[in-house]
Order: sequence, then C-alpha cells, then structure tokens
Amino acid sequence: MDHFSFKHGVLHCESVDVTALASRFGTPLYVYSQQTIVDHYNRMVTAFESLSANMCYSVKSCSNLSILALLNTCGACFDVVSGGELARVLEVGVDPKRVVFAGVGKTDLEMIAALDAGIGWFNAESEQELEILAHLASQRGTIAQVALRVNPDVDPQTHHHTTTGKRETKFGVDLPLAQRVFEAFAKTPSINLAGVHVHIGSPVHHIEAYVDSIKRTLDLIARLRAGGHTITSINVGGGYGAHYTGEEAPTAADYAANIVPLLQGTKLTVMLEPGRSITANAGVLIARTIFKKSSGEKQFVIVDAAMTDLIRPALYDAFHFAWPVAPVKEMVPPQRKHDLQLEGTERVDIVGPVCETGDFLAKDRWLPPVVRGDLLCIFSSGAYGFSMSNQYNSRPRAAEVLVHGDKVKLIRRRETYEDLVALERSE
Ligand code: LLP
Repeated sequence: MDHFSFKHGVLHCESVDVTALASRFGTPLYVYSQQTIVDHYNRMVTAFESLSANMCYSVKSCSNLSILALLNTCGACFDVVSGGELARVLEVGVDPKRVVFAGVGKTDLEMIAALDAGIGWFNAESEQELEILAHLASQRGTIAQVALRVNPDVDPQTHHHTTTGKRETKFGVDLPLAQRVFEAFAKTPSINLAGVHVHIGSPVHHIEAYVDSIKRTLDLIARLRAGGHTITSINVGGGYGAHYTGEEAPTAADYAANIVPLLQGTKLTVMLEPGRSITANAGVLIARTIFKKSSGEKQFVIVDAAMTDLIRPALYDAFHFAWPVAPVKEMVPPQRKHDLQLEGTERVDIVGPVCETGDFLAKDRWLPPVVRGDLLCIFSSGAYGFSMSNQYNSRPRAAEVLVHGDKVKLIRRRETYEDLVALERSE
C-alpha cells in the first residue's frame, strides 16, 4: 500500500525518521514517498499493459513540480485542466504531445496556450467550446486534435460533489447529442474530432460503473464509425481508488480485469487519467499538537494543521487515518481501520486553529494519549491534499518534502508572511 511504517515505534517514510523531518522542516509538513508514487504508477501501467494504454497522470491530484518531473521520467502522459497546470507540466519539460487538456470552461487564453504548445488532445465538453477552439486553431493555421467528453449518465456511487458522469452534472455532452456534435464538426478543417473521453467521478470503487460507462461509450463509437467517422482513441478517465482505511479500494489489477476485455480489439488508442490512485497513499500530512482541551464529553487535540492544509474532511467528510508519529509505549496501529480501538487509547477529535467548526481533520478517533508538542500523522493525504490547500485565515501554506530511500528533498518551501502579502503591496 505504501512505504510509511513504524520502526522501533516511530513513523518512517521509506528509511527516514519522520520526527527528524518535522524538526528540520517544521510543521505542518507534507511528506511524500517517491517509491510509493513509482509503485502505484507502475501498477497502473502493468495492469493495462496489454492495451499499451497511455497513463495520463491527473495533475490536479498533486501538482508539485518535483512529482511531475518524477512521473515524467517514469514515462507518464499528463491530464491538465487549466492553463496553470499546463504551465507546470511544460516547466518540467513534458513533451506537449503527451498532454491532454480537459475542463468545462477553458478560456480563450488557455486554449491559445495549449494550441501554441501543440498539446496532444483537447477533451472538449460542449459545442460552443468546439466552435471557439476551431476558430482559434484556424486563426493560428493549426489543427487541434480533439476528443469529445461524453456524459454517459451512469451513477459512480461516490460522493455527490465528485460525481461527474450523471446527466444533471455540468460535465461532458449527453450521449444522444454526442453523435450530432460529431456530425456537425466532421468537416471543420481546424479540428480533428477523433476521440471520445469519459470520466464518471472520483473515487469510484464500483467497477460496474466503469463497465457500464465504457460500454455506452463504445456503442457510441460503433455508431460513429458506422456513420463514416474515424475514431482513433478512447480516454476512460480517472477515479481509481486509493486506500484510506486498510485495503478497501479495488486494485489496479481489479479495475483492469473488468475494463481491459471491453477495449481489446477495438483498434483504439486507450488513455486513462489516474490521479488519486498514484498519489493518495504516497503522501502524509504531519502536524504538531498545540493544545489539548475538553468540553463535556469531547476531547480536542488542537494541531497546527487545518482545513486550509487538508480540506477533504471538511468538504466531503472524508476519512483519513490519524495516529501519533511516535506513540506512547510504541503503540503501533495494527491496521489503519475506521473504528480501531486499542487498549489505552482516548477518544478525541483532531482539529485545526481555523475559526470554523468545520475545521477538523479527524473526528471521534481512539488515539494513544498525546501531549502538547507531539506529532500526528494524517495518512493518505497525497492526493487533493496540498493541491487543494489555501491561505484562509492568512495561514501560509505548508512545506512539502519528497523522500527517496534515505534521501530527503525539500520540494516546496514553507510560505512566509511575506509571501502572504507580496501581491498586495502598493508600489
Ligand atoms: N480526469 C478527470 C477529467 C477528472 O476530472 C479527474 C478528477 C481525474 C481524471 C482524476 O481523478 P482521480 O483518479 O484522481 O480520482 N477533490 C476530490 C476529487 C476531485 C476529482 C476531480 N476530478 C477529492 O479530494 O476527493
């Protein structure tokens, strides 16, 4: 699952003692394991090897330059959703042909940047976007390669905020309309509409939903081909699970066992856009206990990390396993379970300093006793952790470090108060 483990009662990332990292770089601190990123990436590649699928890492899950550079050396392609993400992948030297660009609201400037860079595929989400893209490409005397994102109207059975494949969401084009869109743009010289993209949500543990949405998409492709359209690619999106509690998510091999047979023999270039399944288990958030207090039955452990560092619990009620980095009596958790309750533990809420009741990292957890100054680890925070962090309450964002064996690299320095105000100073 990952390379975070307790050695002699102290949490290590690969070979590095996490308490030493916290002393050196301060807290809150994101710590990533390079080996875990590479392992999870390789598992996806191996699982889909028989299709020679292009693994387009979804940059939004964790967009640090060093992690993008690492995945670039692994041979990944990249899924971006903004001009900013495009700038990041270009910054680390990604071949633009290996970039796919999704998103319901690409601005003209973003489309121009992507056209000028010469990216591999635009994943277009509406007729109007196609019209504007065609216009901008023709102005530049270029041809944009485009996949149409379809909305298969399939329920991925995940949180409603991260459900994207149902008709009532803003994503993609309805399947019945999709065929008409292909017809309308078939002869537009500045776009080559030759692919279909589908992404139903995140995380999706219900593999049947992928099967359903891919079958619907393949039916559309069959109809398009029968109508004389040349379709060369299918992009089946991301959403593959990560392990937040033990080993609850399907593995890359489980997904592939159901998805690969559908795509074999279709003569389509297959693309996937995994994000979370590569980075979630590869990162943890380390926080230091500031105070403890109780209120009635409740015990609060107040730490220096907050919803500004990891918003997933506040936003989706997401579960992240939490445990002291160096627990008393070397009390090591046998599993990272939801309801783990060992002898000698106390029931607490782990909360941050932000002035919102929604500012919590973990609720009603049985933790070994912690005191002021103790470090806590919030596990499986590598995806949508730092990348969704913000400066609310004027809190500088955390630092990030990448560990590889016994080597440590600071990959993002901690923000300073100067960083907070620099863009607002008058001349
Ligand atoms: N492709 C597209 C078009 C997407 O919209 C997404 C994620 C992905 C791929 C990657 O999905 P993944 O493999 O990482 O599950 N902030 C939420 C997740 C939002 C996902 C947005 N789109 C969370 O923290 O759970």
